[in-house]
Amino acid sequence: MSNSFDVLVIGSGIAGLSFALKVAQRGHSVAILTKKNKADSNTNWAQGGIAVVTSQTDDFAKHVRDTLVAGDGLCDEKVVREIVRDGPERVRELVEIGLKFSRDADGGYDLGREGGHSERRVLHVKDMTGKAIEEALIKAISREPRIAMFEHMFAIDVITRRKLAGPQSRGADRVLGAYALDVRDGRVLTFSAPVVMLSTGGAGQAYLYTTNPDIATGDGIAMAYRAGVEVRNMEFIQFHPTALYSTTAARFLISEAVRGEGAVLRNLAGEAFMKGYHKMADLAPRDIVARAIDTEMKKSGAAHVWLDITHRNEAFLRTRFPQIYQTCKQLGINIAKAMIPVVPAAHYTCGGVATNLSAETSLDGLYACGEVACTGLHGANRLASNSLLEAVVMAHRGAESVDGYLRAARKLPAPVIPDWIELGAGDTDERVVVTHNWDELRRTMWDYVSIMRTTKRLERARTRIANLDREIGEYYWNFSVDARLLELRNLIQVAELIVACALQRHESRGLHAIADYPKKRKAARDSRLRKT
Ligand code: SIN
Repeated sequence: MSNSFDVLVIGSGIAGLSFALKVAQRGHSVAILTKKNKADSNTNWAQGGIAVVTSQTDDFAKHVRDTLVAGDGLCDEKVVREIVRDGPERVRELVEIGLKFSRDADGGYDLGREGGHSERRVLHVKDMTGKAIEEALIKAISREPRIAMFEHMFAIDVITRRKLAGPQSRGADRVLGAYALDVRDGRVLTFSAPVVMLSTGGAGQAYLYTTNPDIATGDGIAMAYRAGVEVRNMEFIQFHPTALYSTTAARFLISEAVRGEGAVLRNLAGEAFMKGYHKMADLAPRDIVARAIDTEMKKSGAAHVWLDITHRNEAFLRTRFPQIYQTCKQLGINIAKAMIPVVPAAHYTCGGVATNLSAETSLDGLYACGEVACTGLHGANRLASNSLLEAVVMAHRGAESVDGYLRAARKLPAPVIPDWIELGAGDTDERVVVTHNWDELRRTMWDYVSIMRTTKRLERARTRIANLDREIGEYYWNFSVDARLLELRNLIQVAELIVACALQRHESRGLHAIADYPKKRKAARDSRLRKT
């Protein structure tokens, strides 16, 4: 069965939903595929907010400078300028569809501050900004008749002209749609569309400890790479400095905005150690704070450090950070009275599918937007709360470019796309391999490819990941696919890309710290990978 649309959007976070809304408003039919429920996305978990210039004391030049400093010499300055400049207009549109950012006592925006920002400029909805944006977008989309939402639909791979015609085929390659697994009944459906937008988020699940939800398995990056699209700067995995440490619960994010309100990091001896690492102390860029915590933990052998916000009163904390306050309370920590145990955890994939400023990838018709993409904004380390900004700005720019592309694509012969051919014969009785390999991959990445790297550790990881790849490849080709297997296949692909990019970079820059090459090279260059 084939479902035909003008535009296929894979992923339902802020990037995908904003893009879908905009292209539908331009008169195009849109299908959104989401592998779980429509509201399950990384966006939903974003606490901090959206960095944008709105205050009288702020200006674009300062926001650009903060972004470039955080990115440690690797940002594309033109991209930074344009994305920062477009921010206020895109925020105005979010307000228009009903988003209510938190306000201060005078009725102005209550601006938060986070690491690396020289000004208060983070618009937020308490500590649940992502959830509020997601809800506003889903509401707007439900009123748009041109958009069809397909939940529990796992995109397996994009379909390209070359994949169908064979590698020797002549003429430019282009995207034609995607095959997707209906996870409720195991059928694989064909979606045909001349435009496909990848907005599947990042790959935090490649690591044992992450602030990301379960869905963050790098699906879009893996699909794009398999389709021969250029992927860039994958070594820059951002570790958030302050995830809640617990031996029983998952790594819940303690927003950097808490430090923006004066919280101080302390080691187990009670010393406020960040002053010794950077002049901005607790509000230094994220790579520096995460490495400082790692160093303190390694020095003392402690399992965590403390985050101390006890100087603020309970009423303030309950109102400004309701989610954090409640979550900690449920674990027996009253954050107004006791310090919070925190550790770094994998948080954001700064690299990804390479795009230009119109969200176009190197494959005709294939777009990428949000965490899945690498525009050049983040460089070697993303400035806090620049990700929601990038998502809304690039969704708009992508939508603007689609009209022209669709006009040209409609003149091309309509493709004949064959149905998915069931690869494997049936079910295996050795499902344990999939479970085991999930754990092994995440442990390997955590132990060998995290905050402090060495060439030896990276090579060790490369060997182990290659083994996992072989085993899971066998599963993929010989047995019927399911969501868990597909996610693992994607994560293994992404882990290979992270390690390959890390091995390419013979310097320490931003989030990539490697003991064998402690210095930064003079000339900054992107690492690039493309399947040949
Ligand atoms: C946070 O609230 O600390 C996370 C925000 C971000 O990752 O930009």
